[in-house]
Parts: sequence; structure tokens; C-alpha cells
Amino acid sequence: MLEERTQPQTPETPDTRHWDAAVVGAGYVGVPLAHTLASAGRSVLLIDISEEVVDALNRGESHIIDIPTAELAPLVKDGRIRATTDYNEIRRADAILIALPTPLSKQREPDLSIVISAAQEISVRLRNGHLVILESTTYPRTTREVIQPILESTGLKAGRDFHLAFSPERVDPGNGKWTTKNVPKVVGGITPECTERAAQLYEGAVDTVHRVSTPEAAELTKLLENIFRSVNIALVNELAQLCERMEIDVWEVIEAAATKPFGFMSFQPGPGLGGHCIPIDPFYLTWKAREYDFSTEFIELAGKVNENMPYYCRSLISQALNHGRQTSLSGAKVLVLGVAYKADIGDTRESPAIKLIELLRRAGAEVAYHDPHVPELDGAGLSSVALAPKEYDCIAIVTAHSTVDYDALVDEAHVVVDLRNATGEKGKASAKVWKL
Ligand SMILES: NC(=O)c1ccc[n+]([C@@H]2O[C@H](COP(=O)([O-])OP(=O)(O)OC[C@H]3O[C@@H](n4cnc5c(N)ncnc54)[C@H](O)[C@@H]3O)[C@@H](O)[C@H]2O)c1
Repeated sequence: MLEERTQPQTPETPDTRHWDAAVVGAGYVGVPLAHTLASAGRSVLLIDISEEVVDALNRGESHIIDIPTAELAPLVKDGRIRATTDYNEIRRADAILIALPTPLSKQREPDLSIVISAAQEISVRLRNGHLVILESTTYPRTTREVIQPILESTGLKAGRDFHLAFSPERVDPGNGKWTTKNVPKVVGGITPECTERAAQLYEGAVDTVHRVSTPEAAELTKLLENIFRSVNIALVNELAQLCERMEIDVWEVIEAAATKPFGFMSFQPGPGLGGHCIPIDPFYLTWKAREYDFSTEFIELAGKVNENMPYYCRSLISQALNHGRQTSLSGAKVLVLGVAYKADIGDTRESPAIKLIELLRRAGAEVAYHDPHVPELDGAGLSSVALAPKEYDCIAIVTAHSTVDYDALVDEAHVVVDLRNATGEKGKASAKVWKL
């Protein structure tokens, strides 16, 4: 694709439309972003490498939970949203928003390769007046040290010939209350004018825009939010383990503490972190901090506690089987209930259920799973089975989808290990329920 560097002429495409914005990456972030901008009257082009995704979007079909097809289709029909695999079309867009994955490598180091390759694609099509905004979660200085040099390799200068800013996406998939539109948008540009240009793009589309002085401040804002969650989840995970030894119900304690109207925020323990953000993003900062001879102790400690949770939960299941069924984990039939990384969605990225299934199998258990939102679990080579509690020695509730009847489950099952406090009062009263 990069041969354009040596062949600068634009291959003319029949469509010569102008776009207010091009969003690169039509995923969990890109589609809601395009929807929010288009709903405010902007014309938006989505760019994705997947032809399957692009074709579906152009038929008006959404693959993203937060944007139902019924909401997307009219915008596609009106021509306010279109999708393409062709980067050449960004030439006809005023703004280019990058919403691409930023994973960790196997060595748990930032892997910016997708964002870098997109920036290279953009650079060969960059023109005077373009506004480029990075939305992907990343470490402070990525916009300035990684993206800016690639874009400036064209001879154009950020802040003079084109505008460059960072604005973190804060979407929470499946959250009906807080959306791309009503969660304030933090924006920080390379120059004050870059900040202003970026803010103007979002204003009118999102309810509130919060300007910060630099891209670094905006980059670190997003990491602080995710680190805050990771550290607090680790704290209650540690407390849950102490509570088990002390025979105190950790859920009751958290509920009671949450009655304090100030100075406390409730976090729940669980079988481990999941999703694309919380288990990954904090380590972007850890990696960058090393360059400054700085060790991010809280992040490392939280990571250690949270990563141990699937192991701890396996031992809980083992104990429950010993006491409740007089059997060992080896050879036991265990049904994992819920494998998505959080309730009521079908996303299994980094889900702790995958690790727990692997650990249970390693201990010799025969493992099946039931999840109404996840028909196939590729990582484990399993398909969802019917919820037939009597057929299993133990049911482990890993994700508490709201459609499951937990009272009926407690009635029917031999042993339940409730890692999410899903069984409520009935679980508290039943001798066959073991809670985290
Ligand atoms: N998912 C979330 O809840 C969430 C929330 C806040 C921030 N973020 C951050 O937003 C960023 C994007 O995450 P996401 O969850 O939307 O990712 P995603 O995996 O849902 O979507 C990425 C899309 O980009 C496409 N793609 C991959 N390489 C491409 C390329 N070179 N050119 C064009 N398209 C390409 C993929 O086909 C996919 O459709 C990440 O940095 C993530 O950390 C995610």
C-alpha cells in the first residue's frame, strides 16, 4: 500500500465526495465515534482493513453492541456514514481520527505496529489543513514521538501545515447510560490551535469537551482512569482473599462501605481482569516509565494481585468440590457459567474465564461452558452448551449475565462457586454455594 510514496498521483475514484471526518478502525471505538459525529450532522467515512466489516457497515448492519443496526442504517442510507478499505479516500476528509487497537506484545510491551502502519498510510495522503487525532489508548508522548515524525516525514509540519492532537476514547461497551456522546471528551493538541481545531470537531457532537494543554496530558488522563480501576480492583481482590480466611462476607462489607456518601467508591472482586483496556493499558505506562528510571509500583502490584485471581478461584472450586461433593477437581465435571469479560456482552477479549478454563483443565477437570452471548469460545476450542446444572459436579459463575435465573440454578445445582455475588440472598442461605 505504501508504494504511493513513489507514485504520488491520486488514482481517481468515481466517488468524489467530501467528508467532515474519516475514522480509521471500525471497531468498538470507531463505530460509536462515527455514529456520534454523523448523528450531529457530520459526514463520516469509516476506514477498515476488513472487507467483511466494511461490506456489512455499507449495508447498514452494525457488529458493535452499542450501536444497533436500527440506529446505524438510517445514517448509512442518508449517506452520512460510509465505509471503505481504501485509504486514498482520506484525502477528501477534513479530519482523520485513528481508533485502532494498541495491544501488548507477548513480552507485555506496547505494540504500536497497527497505529504506526496506519500513520504511514495517512502520511502519504496528508495535505495542508488536515486535522489528525489519535484516539487509541497509549503511553504519554506517543502522539509527539511516534505519530508526529511519521506525518512530518512528508515535509509538512504539525501546527503549521496540518493539525495534530490526542483525544482518548472512553467508551464502555454495553453501558447504556454513558456513551461516546455524553462522556466528556478530553482533547490536547501539539499547539493551542491544534487543540482548538480538534475541540471544534467534537463540539456539537459530544456534550462536553475538556481541553488540556498537551497531548501528553490527554494520553496520561486515559491511563490514569484505567490504572485507578486496576489498582482498586486489586485492593478488593486482596481483601476478598483475607475475608475468606477470616470468614467475613466481602460483598457485605463493600455494600456497607458504599453507604458512605463521600470518600468511598465501590469496586467488586472477581476472577481476574478482562477486556481490552484494564489488563493491558497500565503496562503501557510501566514500559514508558522505565525510560525515566521510574518504577510504577502500584501498577505492578495490582497486576500481580489481579493476575493471581484465576489461580485463587481454581483453588476455591477445588475446595468446594472437596467439601460439597466429596470429590477432587481431577475428573470432576465443571460448568463455567459466563465467559465474556463482563456481564451482558459477548466480548471475550482477555476474559479471565479463558485462563480459568485452562487452569481447571490442567488440574484434570472436564470443563464445559454456558454463555448466552458467546456461542463459540475459540481460545478454548469449546462451544456453549445448554444450562443443565444437575449434569455437573460444580457450576462456577464467572460472568453474571442478567438473563440467567440464579435462584433456579441454586435449586438445581449440586455445588455452585459464585465468583460474582450473583446468587444474592438465596446463595447466602444455601450450603451448596461457595462465594468469592
Ligand atoms: N473497546 C473498548 O472498550 C475501548 C475503550 C476505550 C478505548 N479503547 C481503545 O481504543 C482503541 C481501539 O480499540 P477497539 O476496541 O475499538 O478495537 P477493535 O479491535 O474493536 O477495532 C479495531 C478495528 O480496526 C481494524 N483494523 C486493524 N488494523 C487496521 C489497519 N491497519 N487499518 C484500518 N483498520 C484496521 C480492525 O479490522 C477492527 O475492525 C484501542 O487503543 C483501545 O485501547 C477501547
